[in-house]
Amino acid sequence: MSPVGAGAIGMFGDPGVAAALIRARAGGRTPRLGIVLGSGLGGLADLLEDAAAIPYAEIPGFPASTVPGHAGRFVVGELDGVTVACMQGRFHLYEGHAPALIRLPIRTFAALGVEALLLTNAAGSLRAEAGPGSLMLITDHLNFMWTNPLVGPNDDAWGERFVGLEDAYDPALRARLRALADGLGIRLHEGVYCGLLGPLFETPAEIRAYRTLGADAVGMSTVPEVIVARHAGLRVAAISAITNLAVGMSDVPIDHEQTLRGAAIAAEDLTRLVRAFVASFASGQGSDA
Ligand code: HPA
Repeated sequence: MSPVGAGAIGMFGDPGVAAALIRARAGGRTPRLGIVLGSGLGGLADLLEDAAAIPYAEIPGFPASTVPGHAGRFVVGELDGVTVACMQGRFHLYEGHAPALIRLPIRTFAALGVEALLLTNAAGSLRAEAGPGSLMLITDHLNFMWTNPLVGPNDDAWGERFVGLEDAYDPALRARLRALADGLGIRLHEGVYCGLLGPLFETPAEIRAYRTLGADAVGMSTVPEVIVARHAGLRVAAISAITNLAVGMSDVPIDHEQTLRGAAIAAEDLTRLVRAFVASFASGQGSDA
């Protein structure tokens, strides 16, 4: 599954080179699961044992992370006996990155040999019952970024030109997360994530429009990563940490500090759920349904 070599080298770095460097720094380990940790959620990477942390600045083609709350490191280590690779901080289109840049980190996970990808993010909720600190399992998305990372020449070594996004959020992995959350007594909402370019928060009129269109949460990430992962045939699951009610739904002003505060509350349940999910890869479920 890791078509490294001819065709993999693009304007935005070579996932094979990035993966080789990360693998070497991690003592040759092959992670079973890739995890992207969103705004204020990076603490999970600090739980990894025997961790090799590689700052993005040291990985060819990776830009530095510019967002507070994003450490900007690739961390490979052991969580409850399972080797995982984490991005502690991600790249957003609102930072000015070309959409195609998002191919690099996601294909780096693929080149490292992960079996699946778990994406986390901070999001605003459009549903009053899913308040700050709660978790939402993403079932589908709306792409309101007006672009995507596959625009441009297709790299046939990684995937086909035209990509289907039905069941982009893997039904079996979703079922597993649902069962794990129920078992842990964690309330896990489910819904549609609306990916927005940012860096603006929305207007109240936009939130009303997105709700009418079927959105349950809004955020500024994840969608490009899902698209690249599905193009490469990687299985994906994604969870939003609800950090605030969307604009117009409460009197609490929305800003990045509020996002980080809400993420800190959600991080507790998220950490428990992610740990259980990781452990499920050790118990042999990893390659099943
Ligand atoms: N809107 C967009 N992105 C977000 C929000 C929001 O309300 N909260 C956290 N990320």
